[in-house]
Amino acid sequence: MIDKIKEHIAEVEKFEAKAKEELESFRIKYLGKKGILNDFFAEFKNVPNEMKKEFGQTINALKNKAEAKVTEIREVLENKEEDKGSYGDLTRPAEPIALGSRHPISLVKNQIIEIFSNIGFNVSEGPEVEDDWHNFTALNLPEYHPARDMQDTFFVQTNPDVLLRTHTSSVQVRYMENTKPPIRTISPGRVFRNEAISARSHCIFHQVEGLYIDKDVSFADLKQTLLYFTKEMFGKSKIRLRPSYFPFTEPSAEVDIYWGLNNEIDYRITKGTGWLEIMGCGMVDPNVLENCGIDAKEYSGFAFGMGIERIAMLLYQIGDIRMFYENDVRFLEQFKSAL
Ligand code: DAH
Repeated sequence: MIDKIKEHIAEVEKFEAKAKEELESFRIKYLGKKGILNDFFAEFKNVPNEMKKEFGQTINALKNKAEAKVTEIREVLENKEEDKGSYGDLTRPAEPIALGSRHPISLVKNQIIEIFSNIGFNVSEGPEVEDDWHNFTALNLPEYHPARDMQDTFFVQTNPDVLLRTHTSSVQVRYMENTKPPIRTISPGRVFRNEAISARSHCIFHQVEGLYIDKDVSFADLKQTLLYFTKEMFGKSKIRLRPSYFPFTEPSAEVDIYWGLNNEIDYRITKGTGWLEIMGCGMVDPNVLENCGIDAKEYSGFAFGMGIERIAMLLYQIGDIRMFYENDVRFLEQFKSAL
């Protein structure tokens, strides 16, 4: 009998368990009510007196070993379970976090803001859903004016007075209505036109509008301001102003910069001329000043407007305007190193 118990002791010592269930059946087998130990204890009364001492000690040894084993394995299994918990191994190095980057439109917009703020322009904004007055009428584009057709308009529902602004020139009007000259402001923002989407044009894009109103502002001031801008923005120091027409400025001009003809790309984007058109500008029409409550006999000023996408496409050599709105990370990632 004692040998039998010793065999059990050896078995208990060797025992290993990978799961809680395995450990539990081990516990029941030895320590349970109908377990092996109780069977041996029941045998105790039948053991001859001279052997009772050794028998008792061996059974106790088996009991202690079995109990110690259960406690030991239970602890190991419980620790393992904690590892699988929601925090995992807290000492493991973290997964790398993918950093985002600024959108090229934001980069160019911020650069334009910076350049103009260095010469005293502040930033102003207006609503994207506009009324007829601020988008058209106050800008010298009364109802039935043919120039309204220059910008195909999205109207909001069937109310012809509520529309998505077709240009940021609407912010000029709002700013002049609310601010006394001198005024030096630029207004970046999103604009909308009912145009077919292609590589060169989109129905949603961005513009920056500039406005300068003070006493004795001249066309020379306009030209110097734009020259300063093109030098800072593109590093190019030759511009030309071509006569043009906008209802809200008189005289009006289109601004070209001399891009150069240094390589094949220059030939392609300037169509072999070396010149690139980058914005529209002019002296604010006295009618517009009066519409906005500014005395045109006392004040004069200039305005200009440019498309941000167009400038970004030139700076970064982007061939298709649709890239800006597709949110393809392979495209966006390329602007990571920029400010
Ligand atoms: N609003 C014009 C457009 O969207 C751009 C423009 C031209 C703005 C001349 C001006 C300006 O302020 O003087 O095409």
